[in-house]
Amino acid sequence: MHLWKKLALAALPSTFHAALSQHVVDLSGDGWTVSSKALNMSAPGHLPSQVHLDLYAANVIDDPYYGLNDFNLRWIPDNNWTYTSEPLKGLSGKAKSSWLVFNGLDTFTTIEFCGQFIGTTDNQFRQYTFDISKALSSCKGDPTLAINFGSAPKIANAIAEDPNSEKWPYGPQQIYEFPNRWYIRKEQSDFGWDWGPAFAPAGPWQDAYLVQFECKESVNILNTDLDIFRKGQINHLPPDQSQPWVVNASIDFLGSLPAKSSMNIEVKDVETGKILKSGPLENVATTGQAITGSITIDADAPNLWWPNGMGKQSLYNVTVTIQDSEKQGLASVTKRSGFRTIFLNRLNITEDQLAQGIAPGANWHFEVNGKEFYAKGSNFIPPDAFWPRVTEARMQRLFTAVKAGNQNMLRVWASGAYLPGFIYDIADEYGILLWSEFQFSDALYPSDEKFLENVAAEVVYNVRRVNHHPSLALWAGGNEIESLELPLVQEAAPDRYSFYVGEYEKLFISLILPLVYENTRSISYMPSSTNNGYLWVNMSAPVPMAERYNNITAGEFYSDTDYYNYDSSMAFDYGSYPVGRFANEFGYHSMPSLQTWEQAVDKDELHFNSSTVMLRNHHYPAGGTETRNFKNSSMGMAEMTIAVERYYPIPNKDDSVANFSAWCHATQLFQADMYKSEIQFYRRGSGMPERQLGSLYWQLEDIWQAPTWAGIEYDGRWKVLHYVARDIYQPIIVSPFWNYTTGDLSVYVTSDLWDTASGSVDLAWVDLSGKPLPGNAGTPQTQHFTVGGLNTTEIYSAKISDLSLHDRKNAVLVLSLSAQGSLPNSECGSLTTFTHRSQVATEFPNRLALVDPEVQVTHDEKTGTFTVEAKKGVSLYTWLDYPSGVVGYFDDNAFTLLPGEKKTVNFTVQKDETDGKWAKGVTIQSLWDQTTRD
Ligand SMILES: *[C@@H]1O[C@H](CO)[C@@H](O)[C@H](O)[C@H]1NC(C)=O
Ligand SMILES: *[C@@H]1O[C@H](CO)[C@@H](O)[C@H](O)[C@H]1NC(C)=O
Ligand SMILES: *[C@@H]1O[C@H](CO)[C@@H](O)[C@H](O)[C@H]1NC(C)=O
Ligand SMILES: *[C@@H]1O[C@H](CO)[C@@H](O)[C@H](O)[C@H]1NC(C)=O
Ligand SMILES: *[C@@H]1O[C@H](CO)[C@@H](O)[C@H](O)[C@H]1NC(C)=O
Ligand SMILES: *[C@@H]1O[C@H](CO)[C@@H](O)[C@H](O)[C@H]1NC(C)=O
Repeated sequence: MHLWKKLALAALPSTFHAALSQHVVDLSGDGWTVSSKALNMSAPGHLPSQVHLDLYAANVIDDPYYGLNDFNLRWIPDNNWTYTSEPLKGLSGKAKSSWLVFNGLDTFTTIEFCGQFIGTTDNQFRQYTFDISKALSSCKGDPTLAINFGSAPKIANAIAEDPNSEKWPYGPQQIYEFPNRWYIRKEQSDFGWDWGPAFAPAGPWQDAYLVQFECKESVNILNTDLDIFRKGQINHLPPDQSQPWVVNASIDFLGSLPAKSSMNIEVKDVETGKILKSGPLENVATTGQAITGSITIDADAPNLWWPNGMGKQSLYNVTVTIQDSEKQGLASVTKRSGFRTIFLNRLNITEDQLAQGIAPGANWHFEVNGKEFYAKGSNFIPPDAFWPRVTEARMQRLFTAVKAGNQNMLRVWASGAYLPGFIYDIADEYGILLWSEFQFSDALYPSDEKFLENVAAEVVYNVRRVNHHPSLALWAGGNEIESLELPLVQEAAPDRYSFYVGEYEKLFISLILPLVYENTRSISYMPSSTNNGYLWVNMSAPVPMAERYNNITAGEFYSDTDYYNYDSSMAFDYGSYPVGRFANEFGYHSMPSLQTWEQAVDKDELHFNSSTVMLRNHHYPAGGTETRNFKNSSMGMAEMTIAVERYYPIPNKDDSVANFSAWCHATQLFQADMYKSEIQFYRRGSGMPERQLGSLYWQLEDIWQAPTWAGIEYDGRWKVLHYVARDIYQPIIVSPFWNYTTGDLSVYVTSDLWDTASGSVDLAWVDLSGKPLPGNAGTPQTQHFTVGGLNTTEIYSAKISDLSLHDRKNAVLVLSLSAQGSLPNSECGSLTTFTHRSQVATEFPNRLALVDPEVQVTHDEKTGTFTVEAKKGVSLYTWLDYPSGVVGYFDDNAFTLLPGEKKTVNFTVQKDETDGKWAKGVTIQSLWDQTTRD
């Protein structure tokens, strides 16, 4: 019971609010009751929390993630639920005014205090404050707070049925399970998505407190917008790196400030504790409930913050204090921040760029501190259907995997939630840039005044809240609206198309763009995730950014790409991949591991097309609230099956659970191979005319245990994909390109270092027993190369028919690269040695003449390492697996091993519930094991 503890200063890692003459009662903790009058049900509640979590904790319901409980628990979102506090204790008797502050209510609420109506809310993503002074002073009974949460699916339906609500033609509005999500400002994937369940949770999902002012002139800090940019910087133009830094601090407060308030700042190096700058802020001005001031810092004084792989993540604590005219502190806030510029360059291609061989059109890439870089990463979806149980420890594990995976950017996809501060804090520390989006996705949205006002408050609050994080990379208006929704509505209602484009621009350009630019000078904005860029930006125009749309010329490139193709016959066809400046989405789904299925599914349901497995597969989505849509699910299941059957040995094990496990693994092999093929194609594009500078695959992690596009399963276990992506996201890679239609084989070296690197690649043809092919099949043994910064070079090409390959089913080309180059920002340009290995056969895996490589693993208890060896043949897709109860990852996995090679692999333990016993359960297999019956 923490209901009346004072707001803990240390509880919030990068932010704390210290304040004088205010009395704060924290409302978080237990001491709440959650109840439903209609269901005559009540259980202990918490804050922050959601109804499902509290009912589960109280044993009223079973684990929402088990079996088909996502369908069985629909009665929860179909009802209203009330969170009622115990009578609040510790309230001040001397208060001049009293306020409730909610940092997040999900979503529709009616709030009562001491039995009196206080107010309502209708946006999950806003912060709300309510003056309860009158209600408190006239309180006769107990000072009890009651928050009634309405049924979001029912409210969305009621809005849809209102004749005054906007209606859209059939087509663009993507329905997953519950309909009508676009009318409400709630996490859109709560109503279902193709990778997740539809729980439509409700509850006080963020913290809340009650603040009382005992003096007339006192303030409580609600939100802080700390903006660090180069003097003169404008969001859509490249910043001048020689300019001094401007630190602009703008604080939203509750209460009232005395006349002549001032602001003071201290900027402290987190690593050394040294003060970089301290003193009064200049140009202090108060507008409404915000006070703002700024200061400049010499251009070269701070250590810069760099993304993962490009240098250090230098961080500074910035403490801003609001003072009265006597210089007494009234309130103070500390934000951990950093100095960097991040810019999304969508400017026209210049003459200089044309001279480098870059095709005309426009740029579409990021620049950090004035430097172009290759963005390597994936798309982040909500890591849980219930945010209150997303802990810092879990996110530390996930971001450790992101960093270990050689990723430097995640796209925080637009239809989960704006991330809580602690996740940005972790990203700041790990150097993971977060391309962040406003929460709009795969639908057209209303544009009436009430809706726009609600969105405006949401945008301003969230832009200001997260702006101090150096990991923040971009704001995008929404997901797939320009690239998918506009074409769909054009098809559905061609005569109304320009009307819908106008509505799109009203929300995503005229409304949101100025709100972003007014609150940040440091971050670029684009209206929708995938787009052809813009023609011009003019802040005084009614629509301040003119989108290029389809005003494009053949042979030019302007855009990022978003590409899915579930016809697996095209999976390895390079000609089918989109050619663009950046790939922000692409992928194919796969099954999670057996260990993960076992968490959620009864033993007798552990087979590929059992009802539970199928109904947990939401690709393709049910498209409504029907709970047994086997038809749509079976299409998605079939896509996985067909892909395996097309390219890989078909599992056929005697034991049905082992067979299921082998099938799950096979879908992961296909998925990983396909992403590898696409990622190496996109990375090679950095040195092609398209000047491709990013690949973010769909999707980083899972929201629950189900077949999805994820590379990391719900509890943190890496699929084959995350290992393979880590491999292919190394700075210098050697990539084979086998075109099976033309019979061309070529090998490229691609580097995303910033300077030239050089080295050699050994090319070795072997048969599947590991014996070298005579004369190396006519291929040179070694090729030397130099490769430019952010560039690629072809080191070898041949027609397969010209090679002396007598049996293509029994031949593999193993490519081993060793190179020297300097990592970005390395000390005095010191050289690092890079190695990489890849391989290619000129038949797909199911046609290869596999032999049993007799692959073995031994565990050294002293060093904790595992040694892997293939005794008899080439071990393809060598796979180390570990049992349940531990979360972690191997240094390397899914690799090729030649006979005679010994490979030592470490396992990083992230969480262990087995007391170290897991190591005994580590197993080894290879592609050969996918062909055996046991
Ligand atoms: C920076 O601020 C955080 C709290 O936000 C604190 O834990 C940390 O000790 C501070 N670092 C320094 C060097 O003052
Ligand atoms: C359900 O909750 C909503 C939102 O708080 C409210 O408007 C509605 O009146 C409630 N209905 C009932 C039956 O309590
Ligand atoms: C960029 O090129 C387009 C033509 O593709 C042109 O209309 C536009 O004015 C150019 N923008 C700038 C800022 O030069
Ligand atoms: C990539 O390298 C080639 C060959 O050295 C060079 O001609 C080209 O200009 C480089 N591309 C870029 C964008 O620097
Ligand atoms: C070309 O751009 C103009 C506005 O700049 C827009 O009205 C028009 O729809 C665009 N044309 C196409 C084909 O997208
Ligand atoms: C082979 O190359 C041709 C020409 O570039 C292309 O059209 C085709 O899609 C490629 N096929 C494969 C399998 O990559």
